[in-house]
Amino acid sequence: MNKLPVWIDCDPGVDDAAAIVLADWLEELNIVGISTVAGNAVLELTTKNALQICDLLKRDYPVFRGADHPLMRPYEAGESFHGADGLGGAELPKPSREAQSLPAWDAIYETAKQHGGRLELIALGPLTNVAIALCKYPDLPDYLHRILLMGGSATHGNCTPCAEFNIFTDPEAAQIVFRSAVPKVMCGLEVTEQAYLTAQELKNIGSHEGAICRFFRDATPDLLRKNVEAGQGGWAVHDACPVLYCARPELFSGKEAGVFVETQSELTFGKTVTDLYSDKKFDEKNTFVVLDIDRSAFVNLLTAAVTQI
Ligand code: RIB
Ligand code: CA
Repeated sequence: MNKLPVWIDCDPGVDDAAAIVLADWLEELNIVGISTVAGNAVLELTTKNALQICDLLKRDYPVFRGADHPLMRPYEAGESFHGADGLGGAELPKPSREAQSLPAWDAIYETAKQHGGRLELIALGPLTNVAIALCKYPDLPDYLHRILLMGGSATHGNCTPCAEFNIFTDPEAAQIVFRSAVPKVMCGLEVTEQAYLTAQELKNIGSHEGAICRFFRDATPDLLRKNVEAGQGGWAVHDACPVLYCARPELFSGKEAGVFVETQSELTFGKTVTDLYSDKKFDEKNTFVVLDIDRSAFVNLLTAAVTQI
């Protein structure tokens, strides 16, 4: 099989961890690099967490540090939705190695050139690193096949009534990405909140003795509780969606739309304004907005991935 080369830019984050495990397991994908950004936790923690997740997988994927704050504003630690350590309090051994010395944006560009335009850039956190790479290297769009991102929403928010966390954390970076020439796939809250694991499905996973299952058994209880208290069906594994879409697009549906980001208004700051449901349309349809997922297939595939070891 001619695997798709994928780069994962992330802010682990328990659902980022699930996304990396899934990408490692899916036979259609070949992880060629991982970069980290401040988001769910400070950069030092998201980088440590990414290295620990690679150790959990017994993989030596190169990990590159990215931005420790958004483009235009200081980093503000959120309510540490993923716990103070970013991994829901689950204990993992110290990383066996260090991150690479090259900054994330330089590594993304070099790797994209090496793959001659086939590289799938999967962005699972604030888009700061991707924006910096696009600004520093104007020809980067010539070398990226797509940017598949978890972020935004056509209808609602989880950080404010209008804004989803990854976009809200760095709206200026997100605007740069949505205005870029790279074909984009947006997995917003419409689809990612459908990609949940129920308490019973998580219990099934936790009943396995493998190291990865033990990690998710320990890392997810608080997240499950918070999601259910917010009225969702279970733990929303947001970041697994762009990964699964990249490998198995047939499990999803969506529509082309115009998507741009609000960066000025105080009330709607960080909103991904989409023309999906309006009679007034933007001049261009710059993004494929994913709207639905085959949840049972998602649950089966993610369960298979996390029980692999
Ligand atoms: O809103 C969900 C997103 O914010 C996910 O990427 C999660 O990891 C957090 O970063
Ligand atoms: Ca994330």
